[in-house]
Amino acid sequence: MDTINTKNQKRDKWASKLGFILAAAGSAVGLGNLWKFPYSAGANGGGAFVMVYFLFLITIGFPLMLAAITLGRKTQLSAVGAYRSIKKKWAFVGGLGVVCGFFILAMYSTVGGWVIYYVIKALTGGLAEKNPQVLGEIFGEFITSPGISVAYQGLFLLLTLLIVLRGISSGIEKASKIMMPALFVIMIVIAIRALSLEGAYEGVKFLLVPDFSKINMSVIVNALGQVFFSLSIGMGVMVTYGSYFDRESNLLQAGTSIPILDTMVAILAGLATLPAVFALGFEASAGPGLMFVTLPAVFASMAFGNVFCILFFLLVLFAALTSSISMLEVCVSYFVDEKNVDRVKSSIIISIIIFIIGVPATLSMGPWSDLTILGNLNFFDFYDKLTSNILLTSGGLFLSIFVGWIWGADKAVEEIERNGTKFKLAPVWKFLIKFVVPPAVSIVLLNSFKEVLA
Ligand code: PHE
Repeated sequence: MDTINTKNQKRDKWASKLGFILAAAGSAVGLGNLWKFPYSAGANGGGAFVMVYFLFLITIGFPLMLAAITLGRKTQLSAVGAYRSIKKKWAFVGGLGVVCGFFILAMYSTVGGWVIYYVIKALTGGLAEKNPQVLGEIFGEFITSPGISVAYQGLFLLLTLLIVLRGISSGIEKASKIMMPALFVIMIVIAIRALSLEGAYEGVKFLLVPDFSKINMSVIVNALGQVFFSLSIGMGVMVTYGSYFDRESNLLQAGTSIPILDTMVAILAGLATLPAVFALGFEASAGPGLMFVTLPAVFASMAFGNVFCILFFLLVLFAALTSSISMLEVCVSYFVDEKNVDRVKSSIIISIIIFIIGVPATLSMGPWSDLTILGNLNFFDFYDKLTSNILLTSGGLFLSIFVGWIWGADKAVEEIERNGTKFKLAPVWKFLIKFVVPPAVSIVLLNSFKEVLA
């Protein structure tokens, strides 16, 4: 097994076979599933959004996930190096991912900070409340206080930094083995409780039954952005994580189980949140605050609700951190692998820069809410659209062209089959990656520009 390749540095490997799956699933499962999916579905017509999401997941998400980890494993390099080692000119795609990493973590840390605050709030019993209005006020008061919310954002980044500094395969992998299943179980319990609330059925219908008249360009653009964001695809995370994969591992298994797991968590989060929205009198289109206002109300109606509330927000925090470390890792490994910068030094400097970029996103929830930087987008919305709808999407487009045409889909299949597994669906995958993903993503991307610039 070749563990040495980049400039005298021994590459860290996943400690166990499950290591990659856990880390990649850890990157994929995060705020995107628990926080963003329910509110995006809520704001984009419910079932219509979910249906388009599924369509993109199957035709674009799955093929790209496999493409990314295969490229990583083949080259054993993080994103920039991976592209460059096959075709020099394409290194820019990796670079684009690094840029994306800065902005995505800048906005992610805003919400990560909210989660930490809610963990503490839950621990001190401050969320034991059923009244939608009061819960809305608790949330609103916090996110609009500049000092506190920025401090929590900083704390979230600090935690992310501390984990990244300890290297790739240590504690996180072990912790994931307990935390991921725990998250899954608690989501099922919460969803069951939410579904048994009086009037919950309306929410289920809203989430799962598509109203075709609601499908418009904005729904399509957001659904594709959500697929990329949720799967951590398009900025080099999966390429980088795939590069720590050894030659014997089963790429097909990894490439399919991660999207499946990721989607199950998103649907569970939707089933925990949206029925409660309808049953308890919240607004489905409430936006980024949806999880923070509705779920405490569900807990308040449960036996041992406070325990569930604490556990839930702790697990959300864990899920958010396993995602944020993957974002930071992309940026750090670029400077370590490409620029030979010391790992500790670059991790710290990058985190500080991300914090500086991120503060305006946090402030745009409060004092800077009217400060727009593009069209009617404030900083938070701008980073959100820029990353999900433009940078990740472009990254995904380039990835498909690169693997499908430049490196070559046949060579990728060869790499996938290297450990002896037969890739039965190879013709389908090749067709999708070469002929479906590039045009489909291009069309949505062009419309994303219109959406963002409008
Ligand atoms: N997939 C992560 C989530 O759902 C977010 C993420 C996006 C992580 C891009 C890494 C890269 O929360």
